[in-house]
Amino acid sequence: KKIIIINGPNLNLLGKREPNIYGSLTFTEFFDTVKEKYPNVNLEYYQSNIEGEIIDKIQECGFNYDGIILNAAAYTHTSVGIGDAVKAIETPVVEVHISNTFSREEFRHQSFIAPNAKGVVLGFGLQSYELAIQSFL
Ligand code: DQA
Repeated sequence: KKIIIINGPNLNLLGKREPNIYGSLTFTEFFDTVKEKYPNVNLEYYQSNIEGEIIDKIQECGFNYDGIILNAAAYTHTSVGIGDAVKAIETPVVEVHISNTFSREEFRHQSFIAPNAKGVVLGFGLQSYELAIQSFL
């Protein structure tokens, strides 16, 4: 299976950004252990702080990958463009969040991605990504 994790803005700061909410592990540390745990999955990782680059990546992978795991971070709550990209492609998308967005500010309760996602995993810390991987196996 060919699966890509796409992370949106500020997720490059994982490990040092609000560790009380997002944990103290960097994403690459987490990604390395997850890759070892699922050696049969062809797992890729992409991160961008730029909305258009995230849309480009979704389009690029959206017709030839088996799954996209998307944490669009703050763009989840604002981006009609990323929502439309998820709708436009063939590859199923699982929306992921590290934190439980429903236990946080009201503006984090809306998602432009969820209506077109295969499913949503949130609130389990970095384990949310692993649960999303398992959903494709
Ligand atoms: C997040 C939740 C978003 O509301 C926030 O803007 C993020 C991270 C999460 O993974 O919990 O940057 O997507």
